[in-house]
Amino acid sequence: MKTYLVTGGAGFIGASFVKLLLKQYTDIRVVVLDALTYAGNLGTIVSDIEDPRCEFVKGDICDKVLADELFVKYNFNYVVNFAAESHVDRSIENPQLFLITNILGTQNLLDAARKHWVTGKDENGYPTWKEGVKFHQVSTDEVYGSLGAEGYFTETTPLDPRSPYSASKTSADLFVQAYNETFKMPVTTTRCSNNYGPYHFPEKLIPLIIKNILEGKSLPVYGDGTNVRDWLYVEDHCKAIDMVVNNGRVGQVYNVGGHNEKQNIEIVMLTISTIRDLMTETPAYREVLKKKEIINGEISIEWINENLITYVADRLGHDQRYAIDPTKIKNELGWVPETMFAEGIVKTIRWYLENQAWVEEVASGDYQKYYDKMYSK
Ligand code: NAD
Ligand code: TYD
Repeated sequence: MKTYLVTGGAGFIGASFVKLLLKQYTDIRVVVLDALTYAGNLGTIVSDIEDPRCEFVKGDICDKVLADELFVKYNFNYVVNFAAESHVDRSIENPQLFLITNILGTQNLLDAARKHWVTGKDENGYPTWKEGVKFHQVSTDEVYGSLGAEGYFTETTPLDPRSPYSASKTSADLFVQAYNETFKMPVTTTRCSNNYGPYHFPEKLIPLIIKNILEGKSLPVYGDGTNVRDWLYVEDHCKAIDMVVNNGRVGQVYNVGGHNEKQNIEIVMLTISTIRDLMTETPAYREVLKKKEIINGEISIEWINENLITYVADRLGHDQRYAIDPTKIKNELGWVPETMFAEGIVKTIRWYLENQAWVEEVASGDYQKYYDKMYSK
């Protein structure tokens, strides 16, 4: 039986990974370590932690004593580190928190793993490691910086982070690589493009646009809306991580992306038209609209159109374009994305229409304060 420590497992991607593990493997134990910050929510994994194979621990990845206790208690085979402060806009407001969680937190986990996984020394003085253990770091394409109109990020593209978020993720990646070089620690890293799907916190572009439409609010587009992101359905990302944890070569980095570049304005337009289509096909979905205009006895959706778009001040240091070349993971491990964007975006929007209770719950904390501060500028 393999025992996984999944940090950040109550967040968007970590939770999807926990669900995938529990679905895919029977003989498994999953320990979720999550601090339940504003971005983490037990409602996201409530059915998973009821499973006897899964345990939830509320705690901080920076907590040395706790990390130590968990390694002693559970004897992990794998650590998969999702826990992070993940929002670029928040990193511009409070860079230090990103440094603490993303860099110091990762380094704390690396040290805990080193303490418990090292079995001795080889003839050259390097540590020897327990059979089959691995530390997997979940990273981002943002470590490579920003592209112009042409080209793709490969694993050899120089690291060139430009936001406090990406600088902190890059630094964590370098520590992971350093532990591999210095201590021969068995590590792998994945660098993925923008994810979308269910349980995405509504401060990020796609869920924020959906939420605002349902509330009849304007749709904030930064700058001129031409910035490009390379979107991947969250389950495809998690399948890639699973493959790398099991079969990825130690010490290697794998880029993950599905060749699905879209300008932000295209994403916003597509979200508007998909919501209209779904509400035309299934009029009952209109009940979730907070703005209810009754025309000819039915809830109107005529006002859901591009007039809702508002161009707002650009993000400071806004990266222009991200685009991943996934050739390495495809050739070495056979990973290919399974959910095409046209299908994934409909699945995602349908999920939000049917799970408004989740949105209301996660947005009930300091979300409104954050939103008012962020978008009143
Ligand atoms: P998220 O913000 O939705 O979730 C992060 C989770 O980490 C939350 O549950 C939060 O409570 C937890 N957390 C934060 N600080 C913690 C701490 N100190 N100790 C323990 N838990 C803590 O983020 P996400 O979008 O799910 O991203 C997960 C990982 O994937 C991150 O490392 C991120 O950098 C990376 N990533 C994200 C994307 C994307 O598009 N969202 C793309 C590529 C890589
Ligand atoms: P985001 O979802 O924050 O992801 P990231 O910055 O990590 O790529 O943003 C995606 C893109 O959408 C990015 O170019 C910024 C833009 N954006 C807006 O135009 N309006 C918004 O309200 C938000 C949150 C993002």
